[in-house]
Amino acid sequence: MRGSGEHRGPHHQHGSTDALEVALTDDVLIVHGGTPLEGRIRVRGAKNLVSKAMVAALLGDSPSRLFDVPKIRDVEVVRGLLGLHGVKVSDGEEDGELVFDPANVESASTDQINVHAGSSRIPILFCGPLLHRLGHAFIPDLGGCHIGPRPIDFHLQALREFGATVDKRPEGLHLSAPNGLRGTKFALPYPSVGATEQVLLTAVMAEGVTELRNAAVEPEIIDLICVLQKMGAIIKVHTDRVIEIQGVPKLHGYTHRPIPDRIEAASWAAAALATRGHVEVLGAQQADMMTFLNIFRSVGGEYEVTDLRPPRHGDPGQEGGIRFWHPGGELKSVALETDVHPGFMTDWQQPLVVALTQARGLSIVHETVYEQRLGYTEALNSMGANIQVYRDCLGGTPCRFGRRNFKHSAVIAGPSKLHAADLVIPDLRAGFSHLIAALAAEGTSRVYGVDLINRGYEDFEAKLADLGAHVERP
Ligand code: EPZ
Repeated sequence: MRGSGEHRGPHHQHGSTDALEVALTDDVLIVHGGTPLEGRIRVRGAKNLVSKAMVAALLGDSPSRLFDVPKIRDVEVVRGLLGLHGVKVSDGEEDGELVFDPANVESASTDQINVHAGSSRIPILFCGPLLHRLGHAFIPDLGGCHIGPRPIDFHLQALREFGATVDKRPEGLHLSAPNGLRGTKFALPYPSVGATEQVLLTAVMAEGVTELRNAAVEPEIIDLICVLQKMGAIIKVHTDRVIEIQGVPKLHGYTHRPIPDRIEAASWAAAALATRGHVEVLGAQQADMMTFLNIFRSVGGEYEVTDLRPPRHGDPGQEGGIRFWHPGGELKSVALETDVHPGFMTDWQQPLVVALTQARGLSIVHETVYEQRLGYTEALNSMGANIQVYRDCLGGTPCRFGRRNFKHSAVIAGPSKLHAADLVIPDLRAGFSHLIAALAAEGTSRVYGVDLINRGYEDFEAKLADLGAHVERP
C-alpha cells in the first residue's frame, strides 16, 4: 500500500492507522489491468439532479414520482433525511422509480438528523423547503468530496436575504423564518451550482419575485427548474445567467424522468479511451456532453451518437446513447480548462487525465472550479505517469485561484507506460480515475477504499464485469 500520505484523504482523518488498515483491507478491489474495456453499459438519472429533485418533493402538497433513480449512496442519504422529516418514500412499480408522499412533513430531532452528518452535501438544500413547510430547519455538518474548502457562504447569504435567520452552532445550522420568506434580488459572486439550487428551492414559494444574477445554468439545474415548473412554479431563465422566479403560495407533486448522468457517461468514455477499448454508454445524451465530446475528439478518441429508435413493425427498436472508442494509433495532447456550464465540467477532468497520460506531447489542464482538485495526480505519477502541478493559471485565462497559492494547473507529459500500484481512493471522481488507471496499467493493482465510488456510480463493479474487466474482491 502507498505510504500514509495525502492519498488517504478523508479516511485518514478517522481512527487509528491500524483500524484504518483493517477497514481498507475489507474494501479493496484487485484489478488485473491491461485489458481494453469492451461492451455496453447504461447510465441512469444524474446523481446531481436526482438528489435535488428528491428534496423538491418536500415542497409539494401531493405525492411526487421520480424515475430512473440510481442505487447510489447519495440517494440513500436523501431518502433517509426525507423519511426523518415525515416524507413517506416508497419504491414505485418500475425499477428505479421512487414515490414521495409529503402529506405529513414534520420536524426531526437534531440527534436523528446528525446520523447523516458528514455523509453528503445535499442536506444544505433542505433549508428553503423545510423553512416553507415547518418554519425552521436543522442542517447537519456537511460531507461530500474533499476537493477544496467548499464553503457555504453564498447559501447562507441568500437565505438571509430571503428573511431567514441562521444560527451556526457546533452541532450544525439552526434556521428559522418566523415571518416567512420574501423574494429578493441577489447576485452570486460565482455561479455556484448548489447556491443556485438553494435560491430556486427557496424562491419558488417565497412571497413576491426573486431575481438571481450570475446563476449557474448546468443541465442539472435546468432539469431541476423543469421539476419545479411541473410542480406549479413560475421560473424564467433569461440570457446572461439571470433567473427570475415568481413565488407561488402552493406547489403540487411532480412526475419526472431525469436527465441521464453525464459525469458517469464521460467517466466510462474516458475509461474506454485510456484502456484502448470500446464502450457504448446507453442513455448518454449528446446535448449535455458537447464540450466533452469536442475534447474527446481533439484527443483522438472516436464516438458515434446512436439516436433512440422506438420499436415498431417487429423491429425491437434501440435505446439511444453514445459509443466511445480508441481508434488505434497515438492519442494527441490537448489544453483544456474546467469551467461552469457550458464549459468543460470539473468532474470530467480526473477520468480524462488518465487517458491524457497516453497522449503524445504536453497536455495542460487548468482547474478553475475547485482549488484542490489535482492531488490525485500523485497517484498516477506513482504508476509511471509524468504530471507536474503548478500554482499558475496555465494555458488559459487567469482564474480566481491564480494569486492564491493553489496548485490548480497540471501539465501531463505523455505517452507514459502505466504500471500497477497499490492505491487509496481519495474522493469520488479521483477514485474513478484511480480505477481507470489500474485498468489501463500492466499488472495487478490493489485499489483501496473503492466503496467511495458507490456514492456516485451505480453498480460499478457489475458494469466493469460487463465490460470484460478483470477485477475481483480478495
Ligand atoms: C456541485 O457541487 C456538484 N455536486 C459537484 O459534483 C460539481 O463538481 C460542482 O457542482 C460543480 O459543477 C452536486 O451537485 C451534489 P458549486 P456544489 O457550489 O454545488 C465555491 C461530484 O463529484 N462556492 O458549484 O457544491 C466552491 O467552493 C460533485 O458529483 C463558494 O465559494 O459546487 C467552488 O469553488 C463534486 N461558496 C465553486 O464555488 C458557496 O457558498 C463551485 O461550487 C458555494 C460554492
